[in-house]
Amino acid sequence: MRNSLFELGDIPPIGTVPEQMHASVIRRERYGPPHQAFRSEIVDVPEVGPGQALVLVMAAGINYNNVWASLGQPVDVISARQRQGRREDFHIGGSEGSGVVWAVGEGVSQVAVGDEVILSGCQWTETAADIRLGADPMTSASQSVWGYESNYGSFAQFALVDDYQCHPKPPGMTWEEAACFLLTGATAYRQLCGWQPHDVRPGDPVLIWGGAGGLGSMAIQITRARGGIPVAVVSDEERARYCRELGAQGTINRLDFDHWGRLPDIGDHEAMGRWTEGVRAFGRRFWEVLGERRAPRVVLEHSGQDTIPTSMYLCDNAGMVVICGGTTGYNADIDLRFLWMRQKRLQGSHFANLRQCRDVIHMVATGQLDPCLSWTGGFDDIGKAHQLMHDNQHPQGNQAVLVNAPRTGLTTLS
Ligand SMILES: NC(=O)c1ccc[n+]([C@@H]2O[C@H](COP(=O)([O-])OP(=O)(O)OC[C@H]3O[C@@H](n4cnc5c(N)ncnc54)[C@H](OP(=O)(O)O)[C@@H]3O)[C@@H](O)[C@H]2O)c1
Repeated sequence: MRNSLFELGDIPPIGTVPEQMHASVIRRERYGPPHQAFRSEIVDVPEVGPGQALVLVMAAGINYNNVWASLGQPVDVISARQRQGRREDFHIGGSEGSGVVWAVGEGVSQVAVGDEVILSGCQWTETAADIRLGADPMTSASQSVWGYESNYGSFAQFALVDDYQCHPKPPGMTWEEAACFLLTGATAYRQLCGWQPHDVRPGDPVLIWGGAGGLGSMAIQITRARGGIPVAVVSDEERARYCRELGAQGTINRLDFDHWGRLPDIGDHEAMGRWTEGVRAFGRRFWEVLGERRAPRVVLEHSGQDTIPTSMYLCDNAGMVVICGGTTGYNADIDLRFLWMRQKRLQGSHFANLRQCRDVIHMVATGQLDPCLSWTGGFDDIGKAHQLMHDNQHPQGNQAVLVNAPRTGLTTLS
């Protein structure tokens, strides 16, 4: 007889799958600020299909994509899934986590019940025509973000993943450390090392927006590990200090400038003049911090609409602006003259393939990359943690919540 439900942290005998589980759930009628959108509920444990694994979640990482999920914008993830034929009228987010494999579906041979794993955040169809023809799975038409576009992410007692999302958890790492770094770390790694010939080389100046954030904290360290020179943008002194401690050459406070947002109309000479003055002053500050008059060969972008015009202007001739998000909006302007005359590259980048995930896990396991876990919360803190992220009031680096792991080392969020 199957037990119907276990309490959080009350771990069933290995391999025993209850009928129901606790989950932090978003529903369409609650779309809005994260503190209102997330609610703890009891839902059915999903069936494990061929090629899949059910993982008992120990800890889950907090990321910006579930800020978007809770807002229901720019994508209503529940309706989008229903249009693809899924029946569930709820969303369980969480695109990274750590835990123990609890059940496996037909045909799974590379992971087994009892394996301690770190979960990566993208899924694809391994038999998709483009993958069979050699495409990087991250570029496949079949690719989607687990725990955002697909359901049953890590904000629940059990997560449903494809077997290849399970990576061996290095021994000695706590559950919460293992849960917090892979999404931002591997995304930053692909941005900085995945787009040859613009992978960071020794001596390359690199401009990093949001240096104290999840992506930024990983990007500063990866740039240093490659011999590059990271210059980080922040919005206060505490964040600036944090970036310098991680290895930034120096920082720029973006609040000292006001030329942000979309470009003025090309015919509005006065506004264009003010914008040009602003962006040139920002460029001079970059030189000051770098200590020499060189432009960034790589600009790590994710802030989007407010900063893309500056990124494209500042980027070196034949350099690259590499972007993985649009925190401030996704309707950004580019003065195309700088793109073609100076032969710059604007490169989209999205999470990471499995090789890149393994490289980043290795870097953390061997001490080359600090996971930058700044805060560990409890299961009921999921909404609050996303709300602070939405308001840009969250702690530096990466954050995690404990799901089934013992509740030690919790810190409070103000
Ligand atoms: N495509 C992917 O695979 C992928 C993966 C990870 C993340 N992302 C996206 O990347 C973005 C950042 O993620 P994250 O985890 O690093 O988030 P995060 O920890 O919240 O960091 C974002 C940083 O952006 C900075 N920021 C806020 N408003 C800004 C503005 N107006 N101009 C410039 N910077 C601003 C903030 O730093 P300051 O206020 O100190 O400047 C903040 O620390 C999100 O939109 C996320 O969805 C995409």
